[in-house]
Amino acid sequence: MEIPTITTTRLTLRAFAESDAESLHQILSEDGVLEYFPNTSPPPLDAVRRFISRQLAHWQERGFGWWAIERRDRQGLIGWSGLQHLPETDEVEIAYLLGRTFWGKGLATEAAKAGLRYGFEQAGLEHIVAIVHVDNGASQRVAQKLSMGFVDRSRYFGIDCHRYAIERSHFAAEVKP
Ligand SMILES: CC(C)(COP(=O)(O)OP(=O)(O)OC[C@H]1O[C@@H](n2cnc3c(N)ncnc32)[C@H](O)[C@@H]1OP(=O)(O)O)[C@@H](O)C(=O)NCCC(=O)NCCS
Repeated sequence: MEIPTITTTRLTLRAFAESDAESLHQILSEDGVLEYFPNTSPPPLDAVRRFISRQLAHWQERGFGWWAIERRDRQGLIGWSGLQHLPETDEVEIAYLLGRTFWGKGLATEAAKAGLRYGFEQAGLEHIVAIVHVDNGASQRVAQKLSMGFVDRSRYFGIDCHRYAIERSHFAAEVKP
Protein backbone atom coordinates (compact mmCIF):
# COMPACT_ATOMS: atom_id res chain seq x y z
CA MET A 1 0.00 0.00 0.00
CA GLU A 2 0.99 3.62 -0.39
CA ILE A 3 1.36 5.15 3.05
CA PRO A 4 -1.04 8.11 3.24
CA THR A 5 0.05 11.66 4.01
CA ILE A 6 -2.24 13.52 6.42
CA THR A 7 -2.27 17.23 7.10
CA THR A 8 -3.63 18.78 10.29
CA THR A 9 -3.81 22.47 11.21
CA ARG A 10 -0.08 22.73 11.93
CA LEU A 11 1.41 19.38 10.94
CA THR A 12 2.14 17.03 8.07
CA LEU A 13 2.14 13.32 8.89
CA ARG A 14 4.01 11.47 6.15
CA ALA A 15 5.72 8.14 5.52
CA PHE A 16 9.13 7.67 7.08
CA ALA A 17 12.02 7.54 4.59
CA GLU A 18 15.47 6.03 4.99
CA SER A 19 16.80 9.59 4.82
CA ASP A 20 15.03 10.43 8.14
CA ALA A 21 17.43 8.18 10.07
CA GLU A 22 19.94 10.88 11.07
CA SER A 23 17.31 13.42 12.14
CA LEU A 24 15.43 10.77 14.11
CA HIS A 25 18.69 9.63 15.70
CA GLN A 26 19.30 13.22 16.85
CA ILE A 27 15.81 13.53 18.33
CA LEU A 28 16.13 10.20 20.18
CA SER A 29 19.50 11.34 21.56
CA GLU A 30 18.04 14.48 23.18
CA ASP A 31 17.99 14.55 26.97
CA GLY A 32 14.82 13.09 28.43
CA VAL A 33 13.10 12.05 25.20
CA LEU A 34 13.43 8.33 26.06
CA GLU A 35 13.14 8.84 29.84
CA TYR A 36 9.96 6.75 30.09
CA PHE A 37 10.81 4.10 27.50
CA PRO A 38 11.79 0.51 28.35
CA ASN A 39 15.29 1.27 27.08
CA THR A 40 16.34 4.81 27.98
CA SER A 41 19.67 4.71 26.09
CA PRO A 42 19.57 6.44 22.70
CA PRO A 43 19.82 3.79 19.97
CA PRO A 44 22.79 3.83 17.59
CA LEU A 45 22.18 5.13 14.07
CA ASP A 46 22.09 1.61 12.60
CA ALA A 47 19.29 0.62 15.00
CA VAL A 48 17.34 3.74 13.97
CA ARG A 49 17.71 2.69 10.31
CA ARG A 50 16.38 -0.80 11.16
CA PHE A 51 13.56 0.78 13.17
CA ILE A 52 12.48 2.82 10.13
CA SER A 53 12.50 -0.31 7.93
CA ARG A 54 10.37 -2.15 10.50
CA GLN A 55 7.90 0.73 10.62
CA LEU A 56 7.53 0.69 6.83
CA ALA A 57 7.02 -3.11 6.88
CA HIS A 58 4.40 -2.74 9.62
CA TRP A 59 2.32 -0.53 7.29
CA GLN A 60 2.40 -3.20 4.60
CA GLU A 61 1.48 -5.97 7.05
CA ARG A 62 -1.30 -4.15 8.90
CA GLY A 63 -2.50 -1.22 6.78
CA PHE A 64 -1.56 1.27 9.50
CA GLY A 65 1.59 2.36 11.28
CA TRP A 66 3.67 5.33 12.39
CA TRP A 67 4.09 8.58 10.51
CA ALA A 68 7.04 10.94 10.47
CA ILE A 69 5.88 14.39 11.64
CA GLU A 70 6.90 17.72 10.14
CA ARG A 71 5.47 21.19 10.70
CA ARG A 72 3.56 22.51 7.73
CA ASP A 73 5.37 25.85 7.76
CA ARG A 74 8.91 24.45 7.97
CA GLN A 75 10.67 21.36 6.67
CA GLY A 76 12.34 18.91 9.01
CA LEU A 77 11.42 15.94 11.12
CA ILE A 78 10.08 16.80 14.58
CA GLY A 79 8.94 13.36 15.80
CA TRP A 80 6.57 10.48 15.21
CA SER A 81 3.01 9.45 15.88
CA GLY A 82 0.84 6.60 14.73
CA LEU A 83 -0.59 3.18 15.31
CA GLN A 84 1.21 -0.01 16.19
CA HIS A 85 -0.01 -3.57 16.68
CA LEU A 86 1.17 -5.11 19.96
CA PRO A 87 1.58 -8.85 19.30
CA GLU A 88 1.74 -9.78 23.02
CA THR A 89 -1.81 -8.57 23.68
CA ASP A 90 -3.22 -8.23 20.14
CA GLU A 91 -4.03 -4.57 20.82
CA VAL A 92 -3.35 -1.50 18.66
CA GLU A 93 -1.55 1.34 20.40
CA ILE A 94 -1.40 5.04 19.52
CA ALA A 95 2.15 6.35 19.96
CA TYR A 96 3.66 9.84 19.97
CA LEU A 97 7.12 11.32 20.48
CA LEU A 98 8.51 14.78 19.68
CA GLY A 99 11.86 16.53 19.97
CA ARG A 100 12.01 18.65 23.15
CA THR A 101 11.76 22.01 21.36
CA PHE A 102 8.26 21.05 20.25
CA TRP A 103 6.81 20.00 23.60
CA GLY A 104 4.04 21.96 25.28
CA LYS A 105 2.35 23.35 22.16
CA GLY A 106 -0.41 20.77 21.73
CA LEU A 107 1.38 19.18 18.78
CA ALA A 108 1.44 15.58 20.07
CA THR A 109 -2.29 15.74 20.75
CA GLU A 110 -2.91 17.18 17.26
CA ALA A 111 -0.87 14.43 15.59
CA ALA A 112 -2.27 11.60 17.69
CA LYS A 113 -5.85 12.74 17.07
CA ALA A 114 -5.19 12.40 13.32
CA GLY A 115 -3.74 8.93 13.96
CA LEU A 116 -6.81 7.83 15.92
CA ARG A 117 -9.06 9.19 13.19
CA TYR A 118 -7.17 7.21 10.55
CA GLY A 119 -7.36 4.07 12.69
CA PHE A 120 -11.11 4.30 13.18
CA GLU A 121 -12.21 5.79 9.86
CA GLN A 122 -9.74 4.25 7.38
CA ALA A 123 -8.16 1.18 8.98
CA GLY A 124 -11.41 -0.15 10.45
CA LEU A 125 -10.18 -0.48 14.03
CA GLU A 126 -12.75 -0.73 16.84
CA HIS A 127 -10.53 -0.12 19.86
CA ILE A 128 -7.19 1.70 20.33
CA VAL A 129 -5.07 1.83 23.50
CA ALA A 130 -2.34 4.11 24.83
CA ILE A 131 0.29 2.51 27.03
CA VAL A 132 2.07 5.08 29.20
CA HIS A 133 4.77 4.78 31.87
CA VAL A 134 3.21 5.45 35.28
CA ASP A 135 5.42 8.54 35.79
CA ASN A 136 4.96 10.05 32.32
CA GLY A 137 2.52 12.82 33.24
CA ALA A 138 2.70 14.64 29.89
CA SER A 139 1.86 11.51 27.93
CA GLN A 140 -0.98 10.61 30.30
CA ARG A 141 -2.36 14.10 29.79
CA VAL A 142 -2.21 13.66 26.00
CA ALA A 143 -4.22 10.41 26.33
CA GLN A 144 -6.80 12.25 28.45
CA LYS A 145 -7.01 15.12 25.94
CA LEU A 146 -7.70 12.49 23.26
CA SER A 147 -10.77 11.42 25.31
CA MET A 148 -9.15 8.10 26.10
CA GLY A 149 -10.32 6.55 29.37
CA PHE A 150 -8.02 5.11 32.04
CA VAL A 151 -8.45 1.31 32.07
CA ASP A 152 -5.88 -0.10 34.47
CA ARG A 153 -2.30 -0.31 35.56
CA SER A 154 -0.54 -3.12 33.68
CA ARG A 155 2.95 -4.33 32.93
CA TYR A 156 3.99 -3.76 29.31
CA PHE A 157 7.46 -4.03 27.77
CA GLY A 158 8.81 -4.85 31.28
CA ILE A 159 7.66 -1.54 32.82
CA ASP A 160 4.68 -0.45 34.93
CA CYS A 161 2.25 1.43 32.71
CA HIS A 162 -1.15 3.04 32.73
CA ARG A 163 -3.40 1.70 30.01
CA TYR A 164 -5.87 4.08 28.35
CA ALA A 165 -8.38 3.10 25.67
CA ILE A 166 -10.96 4.53 23.31
CA GLU A 167 -13.66 2.87 21.18
CA ARG A 168 -14.56 3.91 17.67
CA SER A 169 -18.09 5.02 18.72
CA HIS A 170 -16.74 7.15 21.58
CA PHE A 171 -14.20 8.79 19.26
CA ALA A 172 -16.91 9.61 16.72
CA ALA A 173 -19.12 11.13 19.42
CA GLU A 174 -16.50 12.96 21.49
CA VAL A 175 -13.56 14.00 19.33
CA LYS A 176 -14.12 16.89 16.98
CA PRO A 177 -12.01 17.29 13.81
C1 LIG B 1 4.59 13.10 25.73
C2 LIG B 1 4.82 14.11 24.62
C3 LIG B 1 4.66 13.44 23.27
C4 LIG B 1 3.78 15.23 24.76
O1 LIG B 1 3.93 16.12 23.66
P1 LIG B 1 3.32 17.60 23.67
O2 LIG B 1 3.26 18.07 22.25
O3 LIG B 1 4.06 18.42 24.65
O4 LIG B 1 1.87 17.31 24.20
P2 LIG B 1 0.67 18.35 24.24
O5 LIG B 1 1.22 19.74 24.24
O6 LIG B 1 -0.29 17.96 23.18
O7 LIG B 1 0.02 18.03 25.65
C5 LIG B 1 0.84 17.90 26.80
C6 LIG B 1 -0.02 18.09 28.05
O8 LIG B 1 0.68 17.54 29.18
C7 LIG B 1 0.80 18.54 30.17
N1 LIG B 1 2.03 18.23 30.90
C8 LIG B 1 3.29 18.51 30.53
N2 LIG B 1 4.15 17.99 31.44
C9 LIG B 1 3.40 17.36 32.37
C10 LIG B 1 3.69 16.64 33.56
N3 LIG B 1 4.94 16.44 33.95
N4 LIG B 1 2.66 16.12 34.27
C11 LIG B 1 1.38 16.31 33.88
N5 LIG B 1 1.04 16.99 32.75
C12 LIG B 1 2.04 17.51 32.02
C13 LIG B 1 0.80 19.84 29.43
O9 LIG B 1 0.47 20.92 30.27
C14 LIG B 1 -0.28 19.54 28.37
O10 LIG B 1 -1.56 19.57 28.93
P3 LIG B 1 -2.53 20.86 28.74
O11 LIG B 1 -2.72 21.05 27.26
O12 LIG B 1 -3.78 20.46 29.46
O13 LIG B 1 -1.82 22.03 29.37
C15 LIG B 1 6.23 14.74 24.69
O14 LIG B 1 6.44 15.19 26.00
C16 LIG B 1 7.32 13.76 24.31
O15 LIG B 1 7.64 13.59 23.14
N6 LIG B 1 7.90 13.07 25.33
C17 LIG B 1 8.94 12.09 25.07
C18 LIG B 1 8.38 10.85 24.37
C19 LIG B 1 7.26 10.19 25.15
O16 LIG B 1 7.34 10.06 26.37
N7 LIG B 1 6.24 9.75 24.43
C20 LIG B 1 5.11 9.09 25.00
C21 LIG B 1 5.38 7.65 25.20
S1 LIG B 1 3.97 6.83 25.94
